[in-house]
Amino acid sequence: MYGALLNYEQNKQTITLHYEKQEAQIHVLTDSIINVFVPLFTSEHYSKAIEGDKELPTAFTLDKEQDALILATDSLVCKIYDDFMIDFYDKEGTLLCADYRGKRIPRKRFSESLIELAKQEGHTIDPNGGQDYAIQCIKQLDNADCIYGLGDKTGTLNKRCYEYENWNSDIPDPHEDSFKSLYKSIPFFITLKEKGVYGIFYDNTFKSYFNFGKENNGYYCFGSDDGNLDYYFIGGSSMPEIVTSYTYLTGRMPLPQKWTLGYQQSRWGYDSEKAFRELAAKFKEHHIPCDAFHFDIDYMDHYKVFTWNEERFTDARALLADLKEQGIKAVTIIDPGVKVEKGFTMYDEGVEHDYFAKSPDGNIYVNVVWPGDSVYPDFGNPEVRKWWGGHLQFYTDLGVSGVWNDMNEPASFHGPLPGDIVFTDEGKTATHAQMHNVYGHNMAKATYEGWKKLTNKRPFVITRACYSGSQKYATAWTGDNQSLWTHLRMAIPQQCNLGISGMTFIGTDIGGFGADTTPELLCRWVEAGCFSPLFRNHCAMGCMEQEPWLFGEETLAIYRKYVELRYALLPYFYDLCRECETTGLPIMRPLVLHYENDINVRNLNDEFMVGKHLLVAPVVEQGARKRMVYLPDGVWYDYWTHTEYKGGQYYIVDAPLDVCPIFVKEGTILPKAPAQMYVGEIEDPALILEVYPGTGSYTHYYDNGVDFAYQNGEYQEYFLETDGTKNLKITKRHEGYRDYPDIVIHYI
Ligand code: GLC
Repeated sequence: MYGALLNYEQNKQTITLHYEKQEAQIHVLTDSIINVFVPLFTSEHYSKAIEGDKELPTAFTLDKEQDALILATDSLVCKIYDDFMIDFYDKEGTLLCADYRGKRIPRKRFSESLIELAKQEGHTIDPNGGQDYAIQCIKQLDNADCIYGLGDKTGTLNKRCYEYENWNSDIPDPHEDSFKSLYKSIPFFITLKEKGVYGIFYDNTFKSYFNFGKENNGYYCFGSDDGNLDYYFIGGSSMPEIVTSYTYLTGRMPLPQKWTLGYQQSRWGYDSEKAFRELAAKFKEHHIPCDAFHFDIDYMDHYKVFTWNEERFTDARALLADLKEQGIKAVTIIDPGVKVEKGFTMYDEGVEHDYFAKSPDGNIYVNVVWPGDSVYPDFGNPEVRKWWGGHLQFYTDLGVSGVWNDMNEPASFHGPLPGDIVFTDEGKTATHAQMHNVYGHNMAKATYEGWKKLTNKRPFVITRACYSGSQKYATAWTGDNQSLWTHLRMAIPQQCNLGISGMTFIGTDIGGFGADTTPELLCRWVEAGCFSPLFRNHCAMGCMEQEPWLFGEETLAIYRKYVELRYALLPYFYDLCRECETTGLPIMRPLVLHYENDINVRNLNDEFMVGKHLLVAPVVEQGARKRMVYLPDGVWYDYWTHTEYKGGQYYIVDAPLDVCPIFVKEGTILPKAPAQMYVGEIEDPALILEVYPGTGSYTHYYDNGVDFAYQNGEYQEYFLETDGTKNLKITKRHEGYRDYPDIVIHYI
């Protein structure tokens, strides 16, 4: 396709390569990030994920050798050949990633005679799969390579041997390992090799494909239906370094308000003021901490966004104020679909200003979602984002504290939106095919920016659909799971992969959204779910109600125990948020992120870490009261009993229904909070530090947990060190907020 490399020219950090048949570019962004760009769709990059100029002044050499052009930074060597074949090496000369030379050779699936027979019978069978994508890149795969990332895809942690698609999809069926796509499109993955690691961010918003060695063990490929060939090769000496570089490019989760880390209760079906008041009373009666109630579509008037049903909620403002008095904040769902109804402000204004997507014939495009016939705001247009964001005042005036953006794949009940529906991309005409995967991203951006302007607090936005970089605006959940043990199991690799794909503030519907939960499943789900950054119980209308007190005393006590555990660990979660804002490292992490050389964790699907210090091995099997746990290198302590374990081994540990096995790494200094019914119940709480045997250090962060004052230095930072002698050293590294009234130290 490219032919021979005829010549090239260098303009600062960009090298333009003139091939016989095509022009291409290599762009050095940093020492360890190199962009590969072929302008097949637009002459310049267009990215929805990367904001601002990420190029850092980087020294590199460029030499022409016999058959290759060799570009070398301090950490990467990139050899560029004819046909735009590129191989990447680390600075020691180890080959990291080589373009695959040759055609795709899919594994054989049918014999010639079967294909012939099918033809005669009038059936069409795809003989081998593996058709070339319009835009395509094929890389060699080594036997030991493992592949992680790609956002919310179902199935195993290691994506090697599987294939996926990026096309944001709302699929109501129970999620299966075999699904190729779900709600989010995050075209980033990390390849961990026997020796070495690298990441690739394929910045293309069109429907995209990833075949990680399923069709042939010797290569993997990624590509799309359209757009540019535009990817970033990310080198680094470890998996965390790759994640840090990827989030340097696409952005990091900004520090959230502290209460958003508290427990949240939701149900599609809380339909009235009465229902919410009763709910609050129940939380109090059963003494379960709670920070937010979610208002699903039932609060609206005929499912019209930016309205509130006044029959079922006679005084929403008073209700929200009363709930807030009790520490419970309101989070309202806002879907993109605007009901077609003359006289409805959002519809009228949108029509007047030309804010809705159109059919190619120029008419506003109509499909069906919850309000019936609905139209789709064109969030790629900055004016539309501003308009939408401004209207959020309806909610802030009523006292709403957060927004839940749903159905923003965008979902549609009357068949999928055709690819040629006209949207815009920052002033340029675009199609649905181009904008589909960034629709939710742009909606979340509109919500984040509007909310920030209105409140000057850290916005709490939840989104279902995402693209790379959505972490800058929103937290997310994994969508409509079901009350199935398989879904509890699936949630672990799913959230771990989301985390290393930049999207760290995530959670699942605890107990399961669809179908009916069971007491045992709910217990095991809250035991694992209390470690998800977004900690919310949600279920669907028509399914068995799922509040924790509906399943008997034992379930209630277990549920309370883990909600209380979460509240105790809030300072740790908040520190992890701060770490994520500065390094991009996720809160929930697969073990392989920190122990990448340990082959025992490369395919470990049912354990995870919370930060570097806690290892959680939840029970995800019905009936299990023991489970096997693998502990990686080092010494570990059982969180509940403080029993010491040597790492690098498997153990069978006890896990009665009320026990989620949790292990703490030697040398950990774990920050904890006193019990509270909601964040801020105690205005000035003490800090509790649990110090585990061994040597270690820890940075603890403390601020007002609400606004942006910390960006002007209003925070405290403590550096804690332990040498195992019960003599904790506390140094203040930054002083800009207030000190704790008390610091209580427990030596374990
Ligand atoms: C979608 C959401 C779900 C919500 C429902 C009704 O299915 O994923 O969480 O409850 O719509 O709004």
